[in-house]
Amino acid sequence: MRIAIVGCGFVADYYMKTIPGHPELELVGVMDRDQDRASRFSAYHSVPTYPTLDELLQDSNVELVVNLTNPSSHFVVSKACLEAGKHVYSEKPLAMELSQAEELVDLAEKRGLYISSAPCNLLGETAQTIWKALREKAIGRVRLVYAEMDDGLVHKMPYRKWSSESGIPWPYKDEFEVGCTLEHAGYYVTWLAAFFGPAQTVTAFSSCLIPDKETDVPLAVEAPDFSVACIKFASGVVARLTCGIVAPHDHSLEIVGDEGILCTKDCWYYSSPVYIKRRISIRRTMFISPWKRKYPLVGKATRYRYRGSQQMDFCRGVAELAAAVREKRPCRLSAQFSLHVNEIVLAIHNALDTGSAYKISSSFAPMAPMPWAK
Ligand SMILES: NC(=O)c1ccc[n+]([C@@H]2O[C@H](COP(=O)([O-])OP(=O)(O)OC[C@H]3O[C@@H](n4cnc5c(N)ncnc54)[C@H](O)[C@@H]3O)[C@@H](O)[C@H]2O)c1
Repeated sequence: MRIAIVGCGFVADYYMKTIPGHPELELVGVMDRDQDRASRFSAYHSVPTYPTLDELLQDSNVELVVNLTNPSSHFVVSKACLEAGKHVYSEKPLAMELSQAEELVDLAEKRGLYISSAPCNLLGETAQTIWKALREKAIGRVRLVYAEMDDGLVHKMPYRKWSSESGIPWPYKDEFEVGCTLEHAGYYVTWLAAFFGPAQTVTAFSSCLIPDKETDVPLAVEAPDFSVACIKFASGVVARLTCGIVAPHDHSLEIVGDEGILCTKDCWYYSSPVYIKRRISIRRTMFISPWKRKYPLVGKATRYRYRGSQQMDFCRGVAELAAAVREKRPCRLSAQFSLHVNEIVLAIHNALDTGSAYKISSSFAPMAPMPWAK
């Protein structure tokens, strides 16, 4: 399938690194509203550029557009692509507002086009292995999930030195203004929705703990840098998801079943090992066994040849979409699925403004430490 990329920024290099793994994807050109970026990217990767989005959309060769622009541009760019008759694969979030995401999905349906959204780590070996183990009831009935997307104290990290392979700096201002929930919650929400079905309710708390992030340019938006949500799925499973850029790095997942715990360390690694920890009864107590058993990965692990804090095949979602279009079948990361994920993530993010926290009325006087601890 002939594809074009809009947005030649930091993440675009990761797509370029993983396109070769999908020979059915033929990149015919790229475009960025920043001409310098587009020219630099085009020279580095030896791909043609389109001077404007209109020119890209007028090219009948382009069948599918990969929208790698900043989140605030996702809606306008995806809408223009659909209106021009192109299928769309959008980086996450699908849109910054639910009404916009709904409009995109409606538009795609009316035009007989496909729209799908990242992240696609659900199509990775680790997620597919966990899903298989769940189908096989490897840990019995699932009750509860703890999913963590904490990235450490990012604003104190040397992020000014982070750049992509072709030299694009990590877009810290945009990342901080969009917020870690919209940026990262989807990596686990997609897994949870696929494993446990549609969500029924989201009860969330979001906060901006470090408003200025000590950036050289002032931030225009105080987005949440910490959020915690309890998601109740129609199947009865409840998941507690944490996202943050304050607490130490932790991307782990623990799925709690009646007969054991299914876990992995990091959803950003397509081949992160999957383990089962069993419950064991000794005399009158029940323990979680300290020995964890490896549950074999369903696919062979690949090492993607790029630097970064993850090992993900960014183009796997594009390839799935392209295959769905060609085979005239539903896409796994379908428009409705992407919309559902977007709605959950927005509900968590928006809890900063909409959350109705219970106000405690009682209080107490400060307590003195023990004398030997002063
Ligand atoms: N930075 C990461 O590590 C990372 C990882 C995974 C996913 N993503 C996602 O990828 C997307 C892009 O992030 P990034 O880090 O590459 O950002 P970036 O700022 O480095 O690049 C985005 C590019 O899009 C261009 N752009 C914006 N609006 C445009 C428009 N209307 N028309 C044409 N070009 C436009 C910008 O000029 C810029 O070059 C975001 O949705 C982000 O959530 C980022």
